[in-house]
Amino acid sequence: MAAADISLQNEAVLNAALTGLTARGQKSLPPWLFYDEAGSLLFEQITALPEYYLTRTEREVFVTHADEIVTALGADVTLAELGAGSAAKTGVLLRAATKFQDEVLYQPIDISPSALDEAAASIAERIPGVKVEPQVANYITERYDIARPKGQKVLALYIGSSIGNFSPSEAVQILSNLRQHLQVGDALLLGTDLSPSVEKSVDTLLAAYDDAAGVTAAFNLNVLARLNCELGADFDVAAFAHRARWNQGCSRIEMHLESLIAQTVHIAGETISFAAGETIHTENSHKFTEASLQQLLGSADFSASRTFLSPTKSFAVTLAVAV
Ligand code: AVI
Repeated sequence: MAAADISLQNEAVLNAALTGLTARGQKSLPPWLFYDEAGSLLFEQITALPEYYLTRTEREVFVTHADEIVTALGADVTLAELGAGSAAKTGVLLRAATKFQDEVLYQPIDISPSALDEAAASIAERIPGVKVEPQVANYITERYDIARPKGQKVLALYIGSSIGNFSPSEAVQILSNLRQHLQVGDALLLGTDLSPSVEKSVDTLLAAYDDAAGVTAAFNLNVLARLNCELGADFDVAAFAHRARWNQGCSRIEMHLESLIAQTVHIAGETISFAAGETIHTENSHKFTEASLQQLLGSADFSASRTFLSPTKSFAVTLAVAV
């Protein structure tokens, strides 16, 4: 397929692929490319894997501390969520909020209209007393709004360790942008996966990103299938393998796709050569310590007021007030 045949909607995919794969040095692809229809389904499966403790652990923290979280600001609250997706875990907090308020306004913000439709329908069905006002927006690159019912405070949610997929400077940028929508006394609830410790080994972390059933491998490799399908690229997906690595210096899990042989791949008229063993870096998943969390929050004008740790101290949910 020639570059001229690529439709406008695939232009962002093409730009990302060519920029990352023709770079000098480490080849890379941005993680947002994971989330086509097949990739989104695979991610849903990842969240239910025995090795992927993050989702269920964060949910358990919500179940244990929901009342405390939704009443911490000492006033009625509206919940606004960045990257809400299908809002599966948020129901725990919304249900708790309805115990203390007549009506709770929930404002999920997400790039995917179908995920927002699903969230709105499931919350309307399961949790009476919640009014859902969804907003389709890419919260990284696009403007979004957060409404404030009279007399209420905003509790902004950024959960699921999504912040971990960004570089430290991007993470500060996302939280600083969010902070501009808030007033002093509003709060952010931030879910983050924690660095290895006495309680959590590097092996536990690695297993979460390289599960025995191979779902994470399929999720990672799907990005090549997506480039074949959307850009007419000719990746031999079976000639690449999923790799998860712990990068101690940067406190992050890295996902790569390793070329198992020397090979060339064609995308929109470009030829890309791979040496055997060469990798495409596809994702970073940063893990935090109390100190790195405080630094991140402070840089965006938030101050941690409560940290709810999971019983095994593997995951943190931090309530940080806007200062
Ligand atoms: C979406 N994000 C928080 C996941 C993570 O853990 O970094 C994405 C993921 N990648 C592999 N498994 C899950």
